[in-house]
Amino acid sequence: MKTRCLTIDPACPDPAVIAEAATILRRGGVVAFPTETVYGLGANALDGAAVQRIFAAKGRPSNNPVIVHVTSSDAARQLAAEWPTAAERLAARFWPGPLTMVVKKQPHVPDEVTAGGATVAIRCPQHTIARTLIGAAGVPLAAPSANASNRISATTAEHVLRTLDGRIDLVLDGGPAGGGLESTVVDVSASPVRVLRPGLITAEALSGALGEPVLAGGHAVVERGAAPSPGMLARHYAPLVPLEVCADGAVRARELSAAGQRVALVTHLPIACELPGVCVSMLPNDPAGYASRLYQALYELESSGVERIVVVTPPQSAEWSAIHDRLRRASA
Ligand code: TXA
Ligand code: MG
Repeated sequence: MKTRCLTIDPACPDPAVIAEAATILRRGGVVAFPTETVYGLGANALDGAAVQRIFAAKGRPSNNPVIVHVTSSDAARQLAAEWPTAAERLAARFWPGPLTMVVKKQPHVPDEVTAGGATVAIRCPQHTIARTLIGAAGVPLAAPSANASNRISATTAEHVLRTLDGRIDLVLDGGPAGGGLESTVVDVSASPVRVLRPGLITAEALSGALGEPVLAGGHAVVERGAAPSPGMLARHYAPLVPLEVCADGAVRARELSAAGQRVALVTHLPIACELPGVCVSMLPNDPAGYASRLYQALYELESSGVERIVVVTPPQSAEWSAIHDRLRRASA
């Protein structure tokens, strides 16, 4: 298959390009597009055969369900058998935006989307291209991140093509996906509400909007062996180069470099000492800024020929928990 790549203005998408992408989607094809988190690989969520093409392109295990993208709460409700008060409140506060909610599904949501489960994950994205595309397709779009399974999520069209070129119909290149980290996934189908995948919208923020406690689950739940979300595998979001997280990253990088390895250091803090031969990648010292640059930095380092990546441990506060989660998986 030849993968086409069309450039598109993220603020004011060309209707002709959107129409072309929508036609592919309505015919059962797969199209990668930017969202405000990462690039998604979309297919008609109501067409099981089309959704299967996403799994084939990514090499994704069929037991890992995908997120369905819609443009409104009303459209989300049409996919849900129950729409709890928590869903109502969180949608009012955080949609459109980087929050995915797991609810009980309607029978017409195909098993391919939900991996045969009784729930469906739904997100209402904010990105203009994503919204315009869903609107033009006229159907909800199933869309996991647009990268081969177990690789780092793509935040640019170039990242998408690195692992999916020749495997999908089209990439809409709308520039870098702004947020840079996947959405927060929260299960509102049971009480108390529980975070399945941490994101930049924290459990504390969800709890504040709901006025009740929210379980901050994610990786911890999986480590106990009861994965409520099959995507919460220990090793995920992995770069091709071995990565370790280290409080004293500069010292570790110098050690590895002295031992003859080509080393990169990813840091949010200025480096005080000389690091001869170490490739230093400086990221912003705030969670949103760091998130927006992390995957980009890892993709760049992967192709730069370094043999080891050392990441300086980020701050421990709750706003950084999604970043800790991704780094833990990348280093597993
Ligand atoms: O920001 C995002 O969420 C991006 C953009 C494209 O929207 N999408 C994304 O999709 O990260 P993906 O497939 O890479 O991750 C979806 C996560 C997985 O961990 C999956 O297991 C979980 O959501 N998930 C999907 N449906 C679920 C369900 N019914 N119950 C529990 N977890 C579910
Ligand atoms: Mg993914």
